[in-house]
Amino acid sequence: MSIKVCDANDLQSNSAYVICDVFALSSSPELSVYVCNCNAIRERDALAAIDAGAATVKAVFTHCQTRPQCAKCVCDIRQMIDDAQVSLAMAAE
Ligand code: FES
Repeated sequence: MSIKVCDANDLQSNSAYVICDVFALSSSPELSVYVCNCNAIRERDALAAIDAGAATVKAVFTHCQTRPQCAKCVCDIRQMIDDAQVSLAMAAE
């Protein structure tokens, strides 16, 4: 599976496809990149937490059974949550 980079036009015209892509990516080997080095949280772990309903960074940490340490990853995790919420909102329109 490849990671599809989307822009705003893609989101508006193919919102259902993008939603499927976002959540299908949670099991993608390409997302074995760590989003949180302190706690070894990979992007796919964070996406799985978001898919399970984590709507805050704290909820992602809780889902992963960890706690923030240096907090360098907070903005990246927050961005992942925001992106997922935008995708869901556009799909609902
Ligand atoms: S990188 Fe996530 S707490 Fe340090």
